[in-house]
Amino acid sequence: METKIFSEKEIEEATQLLRNGKLVAFPTETVYGLGADALNPEAVKQVYLAKGRPSDNPLIVHIADPKDLVAFVGSVGETAQKLIRHFWPGPLTLIFTINPGTLSGVVTGNLPTAAFRMPNHPLTLELIERTGRPLVGPSANTSGKPSPTSVSHVFHDLSGKISGIVDGGITTVGLESTVLDLSSGQPTILRPGAVTKEALEQVIGPVAYDNHLITGTTQPKAPGMKYKHYAPNVTVILIDVEKQNWQEAIDAAKVSGKKVGLLAQEKIIQQYADQIDAGYALSQTGEIGESMQRLFDGLRSFDDLSSPVDVVYAETFKEEGLATAYMNRLKKAANHRFF
Ligand code: TXA
Ligand code: MG
Repeated sequence: METKIFSEKEIEEATQLLRNGKLVAFPTETVYGLGADALNPEAVKQVYLAKGRPSDNPLIVHIADPKDLVAFVGSVGETAQKLIRHFWPGPLTLIFTINPGTLSGVVTGNLPTAAFRMPNHPLTLELIERTGRPLVGPSANTSGKPSPTSVSHVFHDLSGKISGIVDGGITTVGLESTVLDLSSGQPTILRPGAVTKEALEQVIGPVAYDNHLITGTTQPKAPGMKYKHYAPNVTVILIDVEKQNWQEAIDAAKVSGKKVGLLAQEKIIQQYADQIDAGYALSQTGEIGESMQRLFDGLRSFDDLSSPVDVVYAETFKEEGLATAYMNRLKKAANHRFF
């Protein structure tokens, strides 16, 4: 199958493909999503196949207008309404109990709940509106790989397996949306993202973290959080934010004849440039927003080296605010290993 890349002007062609049950990846502010008609179970099945995704991991339904929720959820409560007013369109996914039979079990993983999001990207809002259907949109990567933040990442993983990709440039947030469960009494974050716990609490009061995010031991409530994720082929090891023991780590690798890559802010890359085999500057000066935006591109860059490295040492941040999401993804990529 040829995978076509659609510019803004060719969006009508992408629309037709989606209406005909084909798969088209779309840009959002977070990462690229793999789009299919959420009301067409045969199309949705193809999404799992293309990604190699376990079938018990439910999908997010992307809508272009909050009013589109009503068809699935019925009346939307006060808490949800406040969140929608504040954060939609934007990087916040909300989980509701749905009216039985309104979405196929292929979309929901046979759960009584479903995830919804209104993405903040004009091209994709237009795509959903023109298609006239809600679109499922898991991140458009091969299952287990870092999520895609550019057309070339999507093309790398899925070319030949999907009908097209709508080109919206590089995504601005760079990490997947915050997933907030509203289906039980206590609003609970299942996956941290750019909409932080503090930002949510300013709007709706106390918000909890899924116990899995705190202890790392209990079963996560978002099925997708239990899988190995974000992992490049190369070994990633974290450098503690307090210790900053880059030199020690580089020396340890060199002693055992390993080639070293660094994933860190510009200053650190420059400081060790003559001792390392590859470097990716996550940010100019260690700013968290920029580091988040570039994290997945950075992780992927080490898999594409003509001369691969054996280990990548990566910059960490104190786990608070935006850095909670960054650390959640990076720790998974590193299998929680610190130097
Ligand atoms: O930013 C994003 O959310 C991107 C863009 C494309 O919108 N999408 C995305 O989708 O990250 P995906 O499928 O890679 O992640 C969806 C997460 C998974 O961890 C999944 O298990 C969880 O949401 N999820 C979906 N429905 C759920 C439900 N009913 N209950 C609990 N977790 C759910
Ligand atoms: Mg994903």
